[in-house]
Amino acid sequence: MTDFKKAITNGIPNEIPNKRELNPNISHAPKRKDLLTIEEKKLAVKNALRYFPKKMHQQLANEFVKELKEYGRIYMYRFMPNYSLKARHIDDFPYKSKQAAAIQLMLSNNLDHAIAQHPEELITYGGNGSVFQNWAQYLLCMQYLSEMSDEQTLVIYSGHPMGLFPSDKNAPRVVVTNGMMIPNYSKPNDWERFNALGVTQYGQMTAGSYMYIGPQGIVHGTNITLLNAARKIDPNAIDLSGKIFVTAGLGGMSGAQPKAAVIAKGVCIVAEINPKATYKRHQQGWVDEVYKNIDNLLDRALVARNKKEAVSLAYDGNIVDLLERIIEREINIEIGSDQTSLHNPWAGGYYPVDLSFEDANEMMNKNPELFKKKVRETLIRHLNAVNTLTERGMYFFDYGNAFLLECSRAGADVLKESGDFKYPSYVQDIMGPMCFDYGFGPFRWVCASNDPKDLEITDKIACEVLEKLMRNAPDEIKSQMNDNINWIKAASKNNLVVGSQARILYADAQGRVEIAREFNKAISNNIISAPIILGRDHHDVSGTDSPYRETSNIYDGSQFTADMAIQNVIGDSFRGATWVSIHNGGGVGWGEVINGGFGMMIDGSNDSERKLESMLFWDVNNGVSRRSWARNKEANFAIERAMKLNPTLKVTMPNYTEDKIIDNLEF
Ligand SMILES: NC(=O)c1ccc[n+]([C@@H]2O[C@H](COP(=O)([O-])OP(=O)(O)OC[C@H]3O[C@@H](n4cnc5c(N)ncnc54)[C@H](O)[C@@H]3O)[C@@H](O)[C@H]2O)c1
Repeated sequence: MTDFKKAITNGIPNEIPNKRELNPNISHAPKRKDLLTIEEKKLAVKNALRYFPKKMHQQLANEFVKELKEYGRIYMYRFMPNYSLKARHIDDFPYKSKQAAAIQLMLSNNLDHAIAQHPEELITYGGNGSVFQNWAQYLLCMQYLSEMSDEQTLVIYSGHPMGLFPSDKNAPRVVVTNGMMIPNYSKPNDWERFNALGVTQYGQMTAGSYMYIGPQGIVHGTNITLLNAARKIDPNAIDLSGKIFVTAGLGGMSGAQPKAAVIAKGVCIVAEINPKATYKRHQQGWVDEVYKNIDNLLDRALVARNKKEAVSLAYDGNIVDLLERIIEREINIEIGSDQTSLHNPWAGGYYPVDLSFEDANEMMNKNPELFKKKVRETLIRHLNAVNTLTERGMYFFDYGNAFLLECSRAGADVLKESGDFKYPSYVQDIMGPMCFDYGFGPFRWVCASNDPKDLEITDKIACEVLEKLMRNAPDEIKSQMNDNINWIKAASKNNLVVGSQARILYADAQGRVEIAREFNKAISNNIISAPIILGRDHHDVSGTDSPYRETSNIYDGSQFTADMAIQNVIGDSFRGATWVSIHNGGGVGWGEVINGGFGMMIDGSNDSERKLESMLFWDVNNGVSRRSWARNKEANFAIERAMKLNPTLKVTMPNYTEDKIIDNLEF
């Protein structure tokens, strides 16, 4: 057995290991709020010691008190493994159940230093998206996965491995719940308190469900959004070519904008106030050119638009300066948005105009009230500029970053007479009606061989399947299919793989099932060398109930319910998922969303074929049916089509009422 395998099967060591220094070259989670009372702190330490034998308690108790003081959490740094955490060939993991090995591969990828945001605090992305709360949970989970059989299920409560329970081979190997709270205890400070106590965690979407694949997912989603935005304003448009997209933000997710716009063949102008973020994206090749001088940048953009050149231009400065200069020069812009971090406006998510980045940071610390005032004033100027540009023809959408909400809180001119926002969100206008309602969403797969050659073969197979389906596809979904054919053809050239050998592709239920079926055949015929792990992120047609994002284009009132997410996970679990997970809070915040996901390993067997057909069909059509019942016409079309394709599906369809009956009612 290799040392790596031995280390995993050993689990939590019997003796206290040597102390580990934190790696100064990687990013670490910020110190968390100190909300616990003294009694609660004692409880947190007592809780943490549950993982260790008595003989270790005195020494560890003192150390955990220090961690709690210094970091606001007990991460148990001393127990970090010495080997590197990353995706490997499935057979490099120790296992009795191959399905459990696939899960080891996926969760190791989430903690890879090349992938994770704060790897030593077990956080994959989004500032607080945790895979586990502490290193003892990681060690114990990996040990259970290495020893479990196909007749057991591992139960994970917010990172804590509750244990292995007898089940059967058709049951999921792992069931994960993250941050499930009694609803009255689901406010942001409740997360701080209960996470510090060590009894819950924020699993984000793909962090605590072991399904993160690096930046590829966000590039593809942004690319699809921009392509469809272009078509929305110009029915003759095939893509973004000859159009300018203006936005802000080159950070974690926002940094995908220039790359996605160039793949969509457009001109992207993006302002970023933090030079470190700008030059990092420039070095990575995600933004083509950087300008300090706005006029030079705008001259370049106009030439590129004329020539229909695909290029991304960063402005090293504030978005408001950029927009106001565009107005002064009377340049018309086709599409606008914003991806500053306005979900976090007072602590560095949004920077005021007329202040340098350094001065703004100093003010944030030394005079937070003045900083807030400056942010509000900037938001008013920002929105005024957006209003002027939209009056001159720009199409503007909110990118799910609370831009419109914070503008309204700042007193900007952002509301219509009805009290609604003047501008739509990207899900209300684009992703909802053009993708999710038809069942298109972020299907993804990972090659368990960890071999790029397998990924190349899967790209080819997926492309062939889509091209075949395209021949008989109804007009309503042809452009979505075409986008994905183009995407998959260019996927390897765009060089988006970081970590596991993974691919993302927007597909509907039929597309997902057909692609997965062909993969399964190729595994069985040894064309693909090892199993494939199927999944999706939660920014999808199904699985996520989030009234201001994924389900923001549901208008029957049910956007504030979470039945769909729960139904999804329960339904996936008995139709063949290898693991399922359900989370509170992913993407938009604790208490604001319930999102569920799955992972499925297929190994070329008949069993895999049966499971993928049954589960993928349900996983997508559950969401489509709910959208259809909410009277979304595109979803009515999609579910009727699904019923024709599979006569055993019988969905309750809504009857439409004439407006005049409702309008004439007296109450
Ligand atoms: N991409 C998506 O599909 C998507 C979906 C939903 C929500 N979002 C939201 O988008 C936001 C951005 O996410 P992120 O991970 O990139 O955050 P981030 O904080 O890493 O990046 C935001 C960037 O904006 C810059 N910035 C702030 N104020 C500025 C200003 N006035 N002018 C120019 N630049 C400014 C910051 O310096 C920072 O680099 C978040 O609120 C996120 O929730 C994105």
